[in-house]
Amino acid sequence: MTWFILTDKEGHNFSIFWVLVSVLLGAIAMLCKEQGITILGLNAVFDALVINKLNVLEFIQKLLRKDKLLESSGLLRKGLLFRITLLMSGGASILYIRWRIMGTGPPAFTEVDNPASFADSLFVRAINYNYYYSLNAWLLLCPWWLCFDWSMGCIPLIKSVSDWRIIALAALWFCLIGLICQALCSEDSHKRRILTLGLGFLIIPFLPASNLFFRVGFVVAERVIYLPSIGYCILFTYGFSLLSKQAKKKKILAMAVLGILLMNVVRCVLRSRQWRSEEQLFRSALSVCPLNAKVHYNVGKNLADKGNQSAAIKYYREAVRLNPKYVHAMNNLGNILKERNELQEAEELLSLAVQIQPDFAAAWMNLGIVQNSLRRFEEAEQSYWTAIKHRKKYPDCYYNLGRLYADLNRHIDALNAWRNATVLKPEHSLAWNNMIILLDNTGNLAQAEAVGREALELIPNDHSLMFSLANVLGKSQKYKESEALFLKAIKANPNAASYHGNLVIGKTAHYSTILLTKFLIDVPAVLYHRWGNLDLAKKHYEVSLKLDPTAPGTKENYNLLRRKLEQLQKKGGA
Ligand SMILES: *[C@@H]1O[C@H](CO)[C@@H](O)[C@H](O)[C@H]1NC(C)=O
Repeated sequence: MTWFILTDKEGHNFSIFWVLVSVLLGAIAMLCKEQGITILGLNAVFDALVINKLNVLEFIQKLLRKDKLLESSGLLRKGLLFRITLLMSGGASILYIRWRIMGTGPPAFTEVDNPASFADSLFVRAINYNYYYSLNAWLLLCPWWLCFDWSMGCIPLIKSVSDWRIIALAALWFCLIGLICQALCSEDSHKRRILTLGLGFLIIPFLPASNLFFRVGFVVAERVIYLPSIGYCILFTYGFSLLSKQAKKKKILAMAVLGILLMNVVRCVLRSRQWRSEEQLFRSALSVCPLNAKVHYNVGKNLADKGNQSAAIKYYREAVRLNPKYVHAMNNLGNILKERNELQEAEELLSLAVQIQPDFAAAWMNLGIVQNSLRRFEEAEQSYWTAIKHRKKYPDCYYNLGRLYADLNRHIDALNAWRNATVLKPEHSLAWNNMIILLDNTGNLAQAEAVGREALELIPNDHSLMFSLANVLGKSQKYKESEALFLKAIKANPNAASYHGNLVIGKTAHYSTILLTKFLIDVPAVLYHRWGNLDLAKKHYEVSLKLDPTAPGTKENYNLLRRKLEQLQKKGGA
């Protein structure tokens, strides 16, 4: 890389190559996380302070006296100015590319993301930003309060000077100003350099998160103090070395530092364990941010995903209580209440959610399901269509719309809606099944068969579709093919009866649940019965009865068959 080596006036060599590599690595860091770009600023600080041993105060003083401008640039030796220009233009290019890719406007944040930035008065904004800084500083000193999310009311705004939390600001600025004074004016040039370096590493990577240049979408975030922790470590180590030079009880000091180190290691282990599971991560936040609606929402969602609905309801309710405009919590709560048949309250919540956020498609669909259950069919239809209007590709909503139409005996509409669901999501087995069942029920066996074959072509391993099609084939007296399909389906899922029994009772209710359960359980037997293969029919009835002893019709059929077999035996014996 010799052609990259430049030589400045004093005869020092330096390599542009490595400067460019650092710009490239900075770009890669930014692709991982935006603040990665601040590493370029750190490079510049390191270059100026450590490599060039620049005296910042002297430099500023000379810069201020314009007549000495030339002299001040003389302080920038060894091509420093050139390298810094290179770093800055590299940074600017990266930012420009990012801007081209991400679009012009900053992301739209809402008040709950960062309440301070939405305060009207500049005073309130400034006070609260500074309070956030002091919280960040405190987390560096003592990482005890760790939380995955600090927004949504976690930190109430400071609205007046009488708030005691203002002390934190004073403490922060007292320490910072002290450090800055020492960094600039200390007699000892070594001390100046280390302090400036530490402060630079502490402050520069934090600037993008400081709300000074643009609004950020969080209040406090642990990730933004990862890089500043380098500066913190520099300052901490330097402070320790100063103290140990003066202090008489060196052992005690060493013990104290070891203790702090050990505590931080333990904290790190504990925290890493909390990050392993969602449940622990969310629950650990309850004690740190009890006022944060999002924490309660996440704990509730995690419980609901695990099937613990009654506990989930408690947390969702708390989330809505803390933030009465929290539409996602309302939607999820409404959804659970809907499943528990508490339809009145579910409807109230979902209506409120779509009132607050009119383009919330999922809430519209859930509202439609509730209205459907309340037998308010016209409103339900309206809600489904509104949901589809706001989310063009919404197969589940078409599926529910189809169920509504089927309930209303609007068979063509129902078929169209289910067709739409399968166009958007070809593996939507429930929609396919309902189409087959509806066509079968309305006597369109040929069409039902065609739809069944089409569906199986798309999802060949779906046994519920195999059952549906086999049933249709049996009715069309294509016994051989029907049998083959039934056997395949039973082989794929030996517990079909009980399994489907569960499915039907669970949340994915079919349009015609009773019919489906019935035919899944006893159709293979009925098929053999009709076909005249009585021994096989008997066997299947027995399996079926074992799976579901209370299945209506099966018992009677079985008894009929037994009587017939006995008669046959008598005849044979006679
Ligand atoms: C099905 O989709 C078509 C095209 O998107 C739409 O015009 C039609 O209204 C839909 N029908 C039903 C019943 O969902």
